[in-house]
Amino acid sequence: MKFFDPNENTRRENYKLLIGSVIPRPIAFVTTMSNDGVINAAPFSYFNIVSSAPSMISIGVSRETEVPKDTARNIMEAKEFVVHIVDGNNVEEVNKTAISLPHEESELALTNLTLIPSTKIKVPGIKESKVRFEVVLENVFEIKDNDTVVTDLIIGRIVGFHISEDILFDGKIDPIKLDPVARLAGANYSKLGEIFSIKRPK
Ligand SMILES: Cc1cc2nc3c(=O)[nH]c(=O)nc-3n(C[C@H](O)[C@H](O)[C@H](O)COP(=O)(O)O)c2cc1C
Repeated sequence: MKFFDPNENTRRENYKLLIGSVIPRPIAFVTTMSNDGVINAAPFSYFNIVSSAPSMISIGVSRETEVPKDTARNIMEAKEFVVHIVDGNNVEEVNKTAISLPHEESELALTNLTLIPSTKIKVPGIKESKVRFEVVLENVFEIKDNDTVVTDLIIGRIVGFHISEDILFDGKIDPIKLDPVARLAGANYSKLGEIFSIKRPK
């Protein structure tokens, strides 16, 4: 085993160790709305469940400059957003939205994805998605490196689940039919591999 002290590594070295170790990472495709009504869309793999009751998720939005990315800025301003699970059908289109555009331009114009109104929030979702969550902002935590904010950690509360009936059975989701796509390191992605069961000890 080789030991690395994160304080002696460069940021890039730590990044590579993390994104190579914590795999596969689920991908949230997030739509948000600016104050001017522009719909922003981008994928995020620093994404997971925080709690199921209440239903909360987290997204780590890194800052590349000193200002928040459009997604984080819009979430802080509008206090709501939509999270979609990336799947085999939409991953190529979703990837196109990972481009950095000015605040007043929508990444969705570069794709074939279409908007669908939400039920409880103003921000619309994307039709071409088997799972989408309507989410309201619960908290934003500024993660700092020394005195510089490097990440806006978004905690959101789900106020609506939209699940395609094609993947639902008995209130559960069929993982094969969902066909989720996860992020590895670099340009690599993965799909579900072997599925096996282990009973929990009583
Ligand atoms: C699959 C995938 C996962 C990504 N995950 C993250 C992430 O977790 N955090 C992050 O800050 N950026 C992530 N990015 C980069 C953002 O999607 C990218 O910076 C995007 O332009 C941000 O959009 P915005 O500026 O409109 O908010 C990811 C990109 C891809 C393709």
